[in-house]
Amino acid sequence: MFLWQYLTLLLLPITVQICKAQICEEFSDLDLSHAIIGTSLRTRLLLYTRDNGTCGTLVSHTDLSAHPRFNSSRPTTFIIHGYRPTGSPPVWMQKFTELLLARADLNVIVVDWNRGAANINYFKAVENTHKAADNLTAFIEMMQRHGASLSSIHMIGVSLGAHISGFVGAKLNGAIGRITALDPAGPQFTGTLPEDRLDPTDAQFVDVLHTDIDSLGFREPLGHIDFYANGGADQPGCPRTILSGGAYFKCDHQRSVLLFFDSFNGTCTSRAYPCTSYKDFLDGDCMSCARFGAAGCPVFGYDVIKWRDVLLTLGQTKTFFTTNTDPPFCRTNYRVEVMIWNEDLRFGYITVKLHSNGKEAVATIDHKASEFKKFTETTLLAQFDKDIQSVKEVSLKFSTGNALKSKYKLRVLRIRLTHLEREERPLCRYDILLQQDKEVSFRPVPCEESNF
Ligand SMILES: *[C@@H]1O[C@H](CO)[C@@H](O)[C@H](O)[C@H]1NC(C)=O
Ligand SMILES: *[C@@H]1O[C@H](CO)[C@@H](O)[C@H](O)[C@H]1NC(C)=O
Ligand SMILES: *[C@@H]1O[C@H](CO)[C@@H](O)[C@H](O)[C@H]1NC(C)=O
Ligand SMILES: *[C@@H]1O[C@H](CO)[C@@H](O)[C@H](O)[C@H]1NC(C)=O
Repeated sequence: MFLWQYLTLLLLPITVQICKAQICEEFSDLDLSHAIIGTSLRTRLLLYTRDNGTCGTLVSHTDLSAHPRFNSSRPTTFIIHGYRPTGSPPVWMQKFTELLLARADLNVIVVDWNRGAANINYFKAVENTHKAADNLTAFIEMMQRHGASLSSIHMIGVSLGAHISGFVGAKLNGAIGRITALDPAGPQFTGTLPEDRLDPTDAQFVDVLHTDIDSLGFREPLGHIDFYANGGADQPGCPRTILSGGAYFKCDHQRSVLLFFDSFNGTCTSRAYPCTSYKDFLDGDCMSCARFGAAGCPVFGYDVIKWRDVLLTLGQTKTFFTTNTDPPFCRTNYRVEVMIWNEDLRFGYITVKLHSNGKEAVATIDHKASEFKKFTETTLLAQFDKDIQSVKEVSLKFSTGNALKSKYKLRVLRIRLTHLEREERPLCRYDILLQQDKEVSFRPVPCEESNF
């Protein structure tokens, strides 16, 4: 008797431990040999919730009541990966679920269609996107029978996953709440009809990021808002030659996921400016955010949903922003207006530095030589690598790219710097001489209201 009681006490905690231990399912880990032989489609759904953001539960395709972790009153976000030429799991998947769960109380479902996407034959993976979409659609219809609403569903699709999201959305008559497409795949989709790819009718709101339009990504707009990061083709810090190996092929494409991650950082946001071309944007022709009212230009990323209503009234909006090479990727934009009084036209590049309390932000306006003309305001877009609060000092440098003939001077009558994203008085400097390639520093003054 005594011994029995003693044993119970000893075993009880162990039994409790066993009951508590969760079985965590992992994303399918395949390798190159699978991709070479080719895989046939299998769609695994891994559920993550706030009770444990790193432990995935494999969800049944037919019976949700078997999953106490799934709560159909919560919004559900699906993450859908793209082509997996080597079969390896996407390295970013875990971080993605963690960022989403940190933001909101969600059912996060990682759609693991690695068997189906892992194939050295890209065309087979493309074929499987339709089948994977049919499978997901059936699952979402079952979610609806369990009380989930379509409008609370958000699908985030990367590359081929973006088109899968589109196919699912179309089958559900565009009723799902949101599709976010991260560098939607171009090859085999470019030039196709809307029903054969993602399009804005696939969800109530479709936001799209383009980072590799000249290779793996899709060039044309596909959503209610399309963001072209750094013009959408080449990302800063990504290798430009094949000598860098595999990164050459995927760096621009993968940057889309990293930029989206960065958008969860509330202190580092990228405002995106509506414009018809990247060239016009860099030329400073698209600094107006008036059409968005008091909210200003849309912030790229997860929170762009706040601009949904105005974007829906605008139809399709193409926007641009630039980034740094590394996280934090966000940049800060200023309008720079320069008026000179040299008799002759001057062409050149301006570098601006902002200083405050030992911090420095730099912007080089060098996408082309700017033209400066007597008593005419030249308007430039300056993109700083970081935001500086209460600027104490400004440095300017004028260069022409011609180091041999260092003789030009720019006689600046007035230079005015206006923060585009924060309401604050523009900073000015009146009457300053810029000698070619010589940096000049000064303390800016608040601009006078009058326009000379
Ligand atoms: C979806 O795929 C899973 C695994 O590949 C399968 O078990 C399930 O039956 C499929 N669902 C439908 C509706 O085809
Ligand atoms: C989540 O699950 C993993 C694996 O079972 C476990 O190691 C970890 O402690 C769990 N975390 C929490 C917060 O329960
Ligand atoms: C399901 O989620 C809703 C909303 O977040 C919450 O009020 C409810 O308590 C949850 N139900 C269960 C069983 O956890
Ligand atoms: C968010 O951005 C700020 C600077 O903009 C940076 O200092 C910080 O480390 C970032 N946080 C995360 C979690 O990336």
